[in-house]
Amino acid sequence: MKTYKIAVMPGDGTGPEVVAEAVKVLKATAAKFKFKLDLTNFDFGGERYKRTGETLPDSAVAELRKFDAILLGAIGHPDVKPGILEKGILLKARFDLDQYINLRPVRLFPGVECPLKGKGPKEIDYAVVRENSGDAYTGTGGFTMKGTANEVAVQSAVYTRFQVDRCLKYAFEYARKYGKKARGVGSENTLALVGKTNVLTYIYDLWERAFHEMGQKEYPDIRRDYYHVDATCMWMVKSPEWFDVLVTGNLFGDIITDLGAITQGGMGIAAGGNINPKGVSMFEPIGGSAPKYTGQGVINPLAAICAGQMMLETLGEEKAAKKIEDAVKWATANKLKSLAAGKMGYSTSQVGDLVATKVAE
Ligand code: IPM
Ligand code: MN
Repeated sequence: MKTYKIAVMPGDGTGPEVVAEAVKVLKATAAKFKFKLDLTNFDFGGERYKRTGETLPDSAVAELRKFDAILLGAIGHPDVKPGILEKGILLKARFDLDQYINLRPVRLFPGVECPLKGKGPKEIDYAVVRENSGDAYTGTGGFTMKGTANEVAVQSAVYTRFQVDRCLKYAFEYARKYGKKARGVGSENTLALVGKTNVLTYIYDLWERAFHEMGQKEYPDIRRDYYHVDATCMWMVKSPEWFDVLVTGNLFGDIITDLGAITQGGMGIAAGGNINPKGVSMFEPIGGSAPKYTGQGVINPLAAICAGQMMLETLGEEKAAKKIEDAVKWATANKLKSLAAGKMGYSTSQVGDLVATKVAE
C-alpha cells in the first residue's frame, strides 16, 4: 500500500481547527482509496515564537525536506508584529523549499453565493499560476537616511530568465492538462500572461518574450493571451468567463488572487498550493488565521479541505482528489447555508463530518 509522509503545520488562530477537518477528510479518503497517510505534526507559529523566539529554523526545513508534502493551516498571531511570522515561516518555507509555483484555482462551487451579478460556477472557473520565488518578494532593497526628511526606500522587483521559464513551463503544462478544453468545458486550452508591459518595461518584457518563445516552440496547441494586470482586475469582475489559466509574477499574483478568492465565495473556500514540482510542496487555505474566531467551532474548514484535495492531486492521487472535490461541491450545493464563519448552519467539525462521510460513500 502506498504511504505518503505528510507534515502537518496547523499554525495559529483557527488554523488548527480547520486543519483537523482537512485531516479528517484526508483519512476518510485514504481509507476509501487504499493509500496510507503518515502524518507528523509541527507546531511552528505564533505561540511557539512567543515561547522560544523561533520561527522556522533551518533544522526544521531540513526535516521538512523528508516529507512528501506539507499541509499548512494559517500563520499570523495578533501579539506578533506583522512580517515576522510571515517572513520567518511562510515565506521561508516557500523559498527554502523552492516552491516556485503558487497555484490558486478560482472556482465557484454550486450553491455558493457570488458577489458578482449574474455569474455562476460556469463563469467563475479558472486558475492563477502565481510565480512564487521572485519579484519584489526577494528583490534587493533597503533604506538610506532612514528617519530623516530625505529618507530613501528601495525594494526592487527582480526576475531571472530561469525563474520565468520554469514558471511558464509549469503554467503551459497545467493549461494542457487542466485547461478548459482538457476539462471538456471549452474549445481551447488558453494560457494568459498577466503583466504590465506598458510600465514595467524590463520585468514584463522578459516575461512576455519568454512566454511567446516557449509557447510558439513547445506549446503551439495552447492559445496565448496577454492582459495588463489592472485590466485583469476589471475583467475578473466583469467577464471572468474569459479566463482559463492565468500566469503572472509574485506580487501581481498575490493581489489578483485575493480578488479571485472573493469571487469564488471568499476565504472560507479558497485554497492554494505552494508547489515545487520536483520537491516538497505545501498546501494551505489562503485565508488568514482569523484569530477572533479561534476556538469557537464556527470557522469554515472547506478551504483547508480543498487544500488537502490539491495536495492529493499533486501527489498523483487524482481520483481521490476528485472525490473530495465532488464531496465539497455536494456540501456547498445541498448543505451549507453560507460559507461565512458562524453562518454555515453547521459547526466547523460538522462540515468536516459532512464531507468525510460523503467521501466514504
Ligand atoms: C499570501 C499571503 C502572503 C503573501 C503573506 C502572508 C506573506 O498574502 O499567501 O497570499 O504575500 O504571499
Ligand atoms: Mn496574499
